[in-house]
Amino acid sequence: MLASKRILLIIGGGIAAYKSLDLIRRLKERGASVTPVLTRAGAEFVTPLSVSALAGETVHTDLFDLTTEAEMGHIQLSRSADLVVVAPATADLMGKMAGGLANDLASTLLMATDTPVLLAPAMNVRMWQHAATQRNITTLKKDGIGFVGPNDGDMACGEFGPGRMAEPLEIVAAVEAALGDGPLKGRRILVTSGPTHEPIDPVRYIANRSSGAQGAAIGRALAALGAEVVFVTGPADVPPPEGVQVIRVESAADMQDAVDAALPVDAAVFAAAVADWRVATASQSKLKKSKGALPDLKLKENPDILAGVAQMKKGRPKLVVGFAAETDDVAANATAKRKRKGCDWIVANDVSPETGIMGGAENAVVLITGDGAEDWPRMTKHDVAKQLADRIAKALGPAL
Ligand code: CTP
Repeated sequence: MLASKRILLIIGGGIAAYKSLDLIRRLKERGASVTPVLTRAGAEFVTPLSVSALAGETVHTDLFDLTTEAEMGHIQLSRSADLVVVAPATADLMGKMAGGLANDLASTLLMATDTPVLLAPAMNVRMWQHAATQRNITTLKKDGIGFVGPNDGDMACGEFGPGRMAEPLEIVAAVEAALGDGPLKGRRILVTSGPTHEPIDPVRYIANRSSGAQGAAIGRALAALGAEVVFVTGPADVPPPEGVQVIRVESAADMQDAVDAALPVDAAVFAAAVADWRVATASQSKLKKSKGALPDLKLKENPDILAGVAQMKKGRPKLVVGFAAETDDVAANATAKRKRKGCDWIVANDVSPETGIMGGAENAVVLITGDGAEDWPRMTKHDVAKQLADRIAKALGPAL
């Protein structure tokens, strides 16, 4: 809920501006008040009348509006909110912010504000990928600006890829998280993610095909519900979520140390594809080929990090969630794995190559709890993460 929270919503110029009308509705439904600011370009996509009618407040458009300046100057306007949200945040507006320009109402408010700022970028794929945009994003993140999205998908311009503005409900979740107001507020949750690399020698290692996409989505979804997330990740292909504590590790042994250091937590989700074995005889120097002789690699079992936490006698997290990557008899194997490891839930996925799940954008999972097996329909990893985060929030209940 966002009761009595004040949001200053800056609507930039992009086709996604139409979604901001729905965003206003969603924010107001949750009890927030929304003060809208429409840029000149934004007004090409949505009308000031529809924005102010939905917000129930005057829409601000002009830096030199004398009436408003007399009643409430732009400085005050920028500081009277609990959160400034920019949706859509265009490449231009982000460039101005990163460069410290203030030549219209929106950019002036963004420079004058002392409240947290959340951007929902929206632009063409190429514009998003452009070195200038990426440079600006790095700068803005360093400045403490929060981001939600963009998502991958079909774009209004006919191209496909990253650049689509986050959906209104995703922005609402990010607003709740930024205001620390989600159902997981006050909860500390550990997430492990990605593969581990087990060294053979300083240049070679044993690894697996985990991209870390599902783990990152879970970390992001938990943070969006207000949790304080400790995200322990092996060398993954995808970037870690924003706004969480990220601890990067290489091997299973490093991951074990990082997990131990992160405890105690309220819940722990073990989404990492931890290597089961490491090379017991890892060499400190690069192994050389010697004619006819193959290296004698002895393997040793890694500690089972999940089982260790699930079976803690003292200080066990209230909820311990493991993953199972199976290729046959998914539900039966995962049910046995839940018992064997002592965790509360297992999220089981079929990683047979024909499913395209490992390294792909979608997942089809079976959730194994004490009550049995639930087949979830195939959906994006992002949606699996959101549903799982909702379930975790329900299972933990509100923090005391
Ligand atoms: N896991 C872990 N530490 C390990 C191995 C696995 O924490 N050393 C966790 C994973 O993060 C995942 C779960 O255990 O949550 C499932 O691991 P998996 O390797 O699929 O199960 P195994 O017990 O190795 O069973 P199998 O032999 O069927 O692969």
